[in-house]
Amino acid sequence: MSPFDDRPAWTDAIDNPYLHGLHAPTVRETKALDLPVEGELPEGLYGAYVRNGPNAVHAPNNLYHWFDGDGMVHGLYFRDGRVEYRSRFVQTQGLADETEAGRSIWPGVMGPFDFDLPRHFMKDTANTDVILHGDRLLALWYLCGAPYDLDPRTLETRGVADFGGRWSSTVSAHPKVDERTGELVFFTLSDFEPPYMHYGVVGADGVLAHTIPIDLPGARAPHDITLTERFSIVHDFPLFHDPAVLREHGYRVARFYRDLPSRFGVLPRRGGTDDVRWFEFEAGYVLHMVNAWEEGDWIVMDGCFQPDPTIRRRPEEGELASMLGYLRIRAHLHRWEMNLATGETRERPLDDLNVEFCLPDTRRYGQKTRYSWHQHIPVDSYTVEFHALVKYDHSDGSCVRFDYEPGWIASESPFAPHIGATDEDDGWIVTIATHRDTGASEGWVFEAQEIERGPIARIPLPTRVPSGFHAKWLPGERLWNGAV
Ligand SMILES: [Fe+2]
Repeated sequence: MSPFDDRPAWTDAIDNPYLHGLHAPTVRETKALDLPVEGELPEGLYGAYVRNGPNAVHAPNNLYHWFDGDGMVHGLYFRDGRVEYRSRFVQTQGLADETEAGRSIWPGVMGPFDFDLPRHFMKDTANTDVILHGDRLLALWYLCGAPYDLDPRTLETRGVADFGGRWSSTVSAHPKVDERTGELVFFTLSDFEPPYMHYGVVGADGVLAHTIPIDLPGARAPHDITLTERFSIVHDFPLFHDPAVLREHGYRVARFYRDLPSRFGVLPRRGGTDDVRWFEFEAGYVLHMVNAWEEGDWIVMDGCFQPDPTIRRRPEEGELASMLGYLRIRAHLHRWEMNLATGETRERPLDDLNVEFCLPDTRRYGQKTRYSWHQHIPVDSYTVEFHALVKYDHSDGSCVRFDYEPGWIASESPFAPHIGATDEDDGWIVTIATHRDTGASEGWVFEAQEIERGPIARIPLPTRVPSGFHAKWLPGERLWNGAV
């Protein structure tokens, strides 16, 4: 038995690196109790690491892209000195329809799209993000999809969240929860006509409390949204497609407009369309922000900036060049500052290392944070691979790192707080890593204050965990002490 035996047989016939090796999809759902641990599990580690990612069940009917695989959430549950692992597909409506048909129905993000298909013109896989809001673990998709509601303890899909019967549209990946108020702030995009963005707030009770259209000059593709104690910040970057080309040809062809600014729109959390105040910065693109906060009249926002998001195709890669190009990231830690009293702006790089998939202590979204943990991606990577864990100190842009052993590739790595701690980085970093050649997978736990020591505990998993997208830490007191 090889750990790769659980991949769908049809992958053998398709020459696409996101269907093989580290990225080979699995069709096996797994539940494993009381896993062995190498090293020492910290006594205070109480909660769950959950990570979403793509696992294509059916052979694609167009050029496969990493964003097309059906969503599967992997969870490592830490309680009473024991670890459990479970993985489950997000049971999307699309996966159910395709399973009944025995084949792919929807095309993936590379197009051409089919505007006659029900619900959406391309595959909506819920494979990108996971976020805990109240009693829901929301599984969300990159290009705005149906928000799937999972049980955070079992990862079972409970249905599509409608926020108290008040929302029947899509939600982007990366909504933010303000842990002080329990509110969830989100946006969604429209491809063809104004308004090209809607912004919304879901109350702590899970009911939609506020929604407004945002005036954008055209179809846009921001990926993240940020919040401070009082404000929300929506993003508008000069990397976008032409709706007419999309409608006429069925392809989303993105172009980078170097002469247009990057813009951030600041509005009070429950503000109106006319309250949005735009600030302009250097052209570029940002997939993920670390955090934003207020300092007097200033809003400070740190994130992973791509000054040149031009798609990096290599002609020698032939048909795959476009798909591979869309995934190549050149991003550094950057700071943007906006003065609400004077309108003044400032921006500067905090470092130059190629990093992405960044997380602070997510309980502190909207409050000033000093630390964040990122993944380093080698600039010459053929596919997206995370080769090192990097811890940033945002007070001076300095970082420490731990380079994974050769062949091992980790996942996005959230911070698990030590309950009762006073230091911001008193806790652990948890991740799942997979060896690209052997297919072995392990859970890893680092001391957040000393990541450079490497994992203090390694948990060999009974099955291969393919590469994936976003991860979060779910605090044990929310999972098991009655709060959920
Ligand atoms: Fe993302």
